[in-house]
Amino acid sequence: MSAISIEKSEKLEGKIRVQGSKNEVLPILCATVINGNISIIHNCPRISDVYNTIKILNSIGCKTEWIDDNSLMVNSRNLNDYRVTCNCVRMMRSSIIFAGALVSRCKQAVCSYPGGCVIGERPIDMHIAAFRKMGIKVINNGKGIECIRYKEKNCKIRLRFPSVGATENIILASIIGNQTVYIYNYAKEPEIISLCSFLIKMGGIIDIRKDYIKISGVKKNCLKNVEYCIDSDRIVAATYMFVVAGCKGDVVLEAADIDKLRASADILKSAGVLINSDSNKGIAFEKKYIRIKMKEKLSLKGKVTTGPFPYFPTDMQSPLMALMAGNNTEFLCKETMFENRFKMANELIKMGADIIIKDNKAYIKGKQLHGCRVNASDLRAGAGLVIAGLGAEGRTVIQHADYIYRGYEDIIRDINSIGGNIHIV
Ligand code: EPU
Repeated sequence: MSAISIEKSEKLEGKIRVQGSKNEVLPILCATVINGNISIIHNCPRISDVYNTIKILNSIGCKTEWIDDNSLMVNSRNLNDYRVTCNCVRMMRSSIIFAGALVSRCKQAVCSYPGGCVIGERPIDMHIAAFRKMGIKVINNGKGIECIRYKEKNCKIRLRFPSVGATENIILASIIGNQTVYIYNYAKEPEIISLCSFLIKMGGIIDIRKDYIKISGVKKNCLKNVEYCIDSDRIVAATYMFVVAGCKGDVVLEAADIDKLRASADILKSAGVLINSDSNKGIAFEKKYIRIKMKEKLSLKGKVTTGPFPYFPTDMQSPLMALMAGNNTEFLCKETMFENRFKMANELIKMGADIIIKDNKAYIKGKQLHGCRVNASDLRAGAGLVIAGLGAEGRTVIQHADYIYRGYEDIIRDINSIGGNIHIV
């Protein structure tokens, strides 16, 4: 496990091009097994979760090849297994999405229980209940799930919570076949819309309405080769906005879409951060940008509750806590999605932070932090500690920094390119 060393940064200036989205590309890579053909994915981020997904694809007979820096080709013509059980499956949450994709392609799937960041219990009961309703027999064998489609059944599924993963799995499992499936209370995260766009390009029939998604199954031979460009990562963009807000400076985030991160931008605006953007719907995502300007030390009294899109994302809760802990703030953060997402607070407290956790609420009173040795417990906690370290007096060393590479292509390159002082030790 690598460690990152960070010195305090007073002013950041320049521009960063925001990488492709992790949570968009991972289900799309799972979906490439469905067409039994070629998929070319552009703007694919070079992150460890992508590398692990490639290993899973290879383990079931798919051929993968980087055709340039960020373009990946997946050929699923020679898929020869419906079982995803290699070690990589247990390293990521998104591996469970192979279940839906393989049920579409092979009518059966075996999938080890997924792993991923230890941010909560993260059950898959909604995925399983939906599959059963769709005519898919699901056996929990203690190590994972075995799924067999015994019937192509029209059905209406209402999720008790708009789960991102469950929505993705249901969509994928419904693409091939002679059934029509409706999903109500579906997740409205931008990643869901992108997955549907990818599948429609492949030949899938999906109708997205305000209240439901309707998937009309098609015959396998209706699906074709597909070429698709992944949008920029809204969580990475919002993280870098918080980095600048904490250090002061003037930075342009290229290929960043303000419409996908308004809840994060609104908190910064209420603290006096100047944010300009161009997210005109008519322009390509590469031309969109966000400019963040901060002259004074950030000062804010406020509160926020995490929620499904378009509410404040749980993935930004750790970066937010770190930003608030090191500035002139009094802030209350309520976490509604994952019960272990406050673990990072103990690391910030080592740096001198004043944070009290009660149930699912964190009360933060900002003060000057000081650098010390801290541990990243998950991907977003790692990103939060980078924000804390950039504002802290002296040197901060983040251990277990490998977590950060699950979702950030090169946080060191990006932050140093705007004047930060951060490196691997
Ligand atoms: N849930 C259940 N049962 C289920 C499924 C979910 O109770 O069958 C609960 C979860 O425990 C959680 C809530 O529903 O309390 C939301 O979970 P969801 O299924 O929406 O999350 P996910 O699909 O596991 C994705 C992202 C997460 C992100 C969440 C919420 C991917 C690969 N992961 O996870 O991203 O936090 O949606 O937006 O897309 C990250 O990027 O760091 C990350 C953890």
